[in-house]
Amino acid sequence: GPLEEVSIPLYFGWFLLFSVKNKIKCTSMDFLKTLDTLDAFKKHSVDFTGKAEKEVDLEQYFKPAGILHCTTKFCDYGKAEGAKEYAENQAVIKSYGSISDLSLSAFFVTPRTCGARVYLTEEQLQLWPADAEKQAEPVPEAAASLPLGSRAHITLGCAEGVEPVQTGIDLLEILAQQESQQGELVEEMELGSLTYYGEGKWLLNLREPICVPACFSSIYG
Ligand code: A2P
Repeated sequence: GPLEEVSIPLYFGWFLLFSVKNKIKCTSMDFLKTLDTLDAFKKHSVDFTGKAEKEVDLEQYFKPAGILHCTTKFCDYGKAEGAKEYAENQAVIKSYGSISDLSLSAFFVTPRTCGARVYLTEEQLQLWPADAEKQAEPVPEAAASLPLGSRAHITLGCAEGVEPVQTGIDLLEILAQQESQQGELVEEMELGSLTYYGEGKWLLNLREPICVPACFSSIYG
């Protein structure tokens, strides 16, 4: 009935605790600030501007994301495939409201999105849908063979007119390229090593993962 339908949220995920939100925002802003001043980045700024040698201010370019979180299952109030099964999964019910540490292993930027890669633990993978890497269109072909959890990320910002669902697709595309060693190591930065994957795709692998506490919950609004 209709009551049952409203009990399925828009999405489930890990929501960063209030106390660490600003830390992540600051660290990612610092990364953007540093990235767009690098000569290597300026050389490829046409990927972002469409014009050669035009400077980009990445902090302005991306509209900041609202609630910092890592989506596990987009349910669309029950309309998405497998939503009901996910909401009724014992692991999901048991973990609901629990707090665990998310390990951020990389920051990435494309002309569409900016995000942080999340490296999931075995326990967190219990809450990860088996088809997450294959869902949503269009998913890069090579992504189907990536390990479970590869798509896990936090959307930090989107370019004008871009929906947040794009962030996970961009990450999968970069990881598929990483798998086939298509990246070009550009520079060792303070936070880690920066690799360019062509067409405006940049990934900073963090030397030290950033640990942030998050609550497994859902959003209805
Ligand atoms: P993401 O997890 O990359 O941030 P929206 O505001 O567009 O309704 O999306 C709500 C959240 O659900 C966002 O966090 C978004 O992306 C995620 N999301 C939206 N659509 C999908 C989808 N088809 N598959 C997976 N996640 C989605």
